[in-house]
Amino acid sequence: MQQVNLGMIGGGTVGSGVFHAWQKNGGLMAARLGVKIQFRKIAVKAFDEPRPYPIARNLMTTDWQEVINDPQIHIVIELVGGTGIAKTMVLAALAQRKTVVTANKALLSTHGPELFAAAAKSGANLYFEASVCGGIPIIKSLREGFVANQFPAIYGIVNGTCNYILSRMKAEGADFADVLADAQKLGYAETPPDLDIDGHDAQHKIGILASLAHGFWADHHQIHTEGIRDVSKIDMEFAAKLGYTIKLLGIAKQSKAQSPKSKAGVQVSVYPTLIPNTHVLASVNGVFNACFVRGDIVGDTLFYGRGAGKDATASAVLSDVADAALDLKNGGKIRVAPFVACAKGGRIAPMDEIVSRYYLRLSVVDKPGVLSKIAAIFAAAKIGISSVIQPEGHEGESVPLILMIHDAPNAAMRKALAKIAKLPAVKNKPVMIRVENFE
Ligand code: HSE
Repeated sequence: MQQVNLGMIGGGTVGSGVFHAWQKNGGLMAARLGVKIQFRKIAVKAFDEPRPYPIARNLMTTDWQEVINDPQIHIVIELVGGTGIAKTMVLAALAQRKTVVTANKALLSTHGPELFAAAAKSGANLYFEASVCGGIPIIKSLREGFVANQFPAIYGIVNGTCNYILSRMKAEGADFADVLADAQKLGYAETPPDLDIDGHDAQHKIGILASLAHGFWADHHQIHTEGIRDVSKIDMEFAAKLGYTIKLLGIAKQSKAQSPKSKAGVQVSVYPTLIPNTHVLASVNGVFNACFVRGDIVGDTLFYGRGAGKDATASAVLSDVADAALDLKNGGKIRVAPFVACAKGGRIAPMDEIVSRYYLRLSVVDKPGVLSKIAAIFAAAKIGISSVIQPEGHEGESVPLILMIHDAPNAAMRKALAKIAKLPAVKNKPVMIRVENFE
């Protein structure tokens, strides 16, 4: 049987997970693929760094260049993370015509086009299944399973840390800061937690999915991104009373031209979203990820699973290794290119063009005429109000006023809100959360 040799850079949590999974099921993979897969070298930070599974000592080196420069190694797995040295490693491996398998979403999001160009130049392939939604085979599904589809909409719960925090806030009526502190204690959230809770990790992931779905690389600078720091217990409660759950959604959705002068585009964004409790994504709780993919031919589909962790990520990494092994078995011919820029003139629609429904919570002085002033501002902006609640039993200088707003462009809503915020009767900054009905 033909054999392909693996090198891996990174022997921590995920790296040891990959090694363990290969030890357990490498034989099965060989039987399925007709190619034997053999680990040859693993570059680690330190031989004895703490890792959940042991790695064979005779494979370890602390010099990553040994992996890249070993002529017997055909496939290099990069599990270092970040956009610094990892980029040097990936480019060096591709330059040596080695196929690269990476889980590095930040690297792809930031430098995708440069890495794909380097892969194309060298004739080697670049695989990245583990970069989005851990063990869920979403990359393969978009590129292969759904190749006959256009994608009107993709909605993803793609960050497990945020989903864990929001799920607990809802279930326990807890405050964001308390759940975050607990999540850090339990090791679910990193310290500092910014990459996750400010939405950057979700931005990397939805950017990759949007790029594959729409055929132009989504520039991460253009992805409107909001995290979950400002989601409060009170909004969770009002949302629940209205029949909604708050989730951090990555959204990649075709958007129509808003006027004869403007162009169609793709909404690519990350923000906390009210979603109806009846929608399947509302039931995705804890650290789990899910992707709701709408194809124009296939219809609505749902993917659910673990988006992080050593074993789920190892499953995705080894599926890429399997594809790379099959490429090599077929004489190095690349069956599926990492990314095909098939859309000419594709664009990310600016957030101001995006039309959405909104949940709005204002803190207002409870006196005659306040509601009419707010309603007048919306009327002048041609924005429709679909419902208003001012719950009784709130006392003090200000009371909450909840408005559900019909579809309106972001720009119009933003301008109306700026005017509302200046009304003397409106205390505190208005809270606005977009609402998604998945229509
Ligand atoms: N930190 C990510 C999450 C996992 O919480 O989902 C790695 O992408």
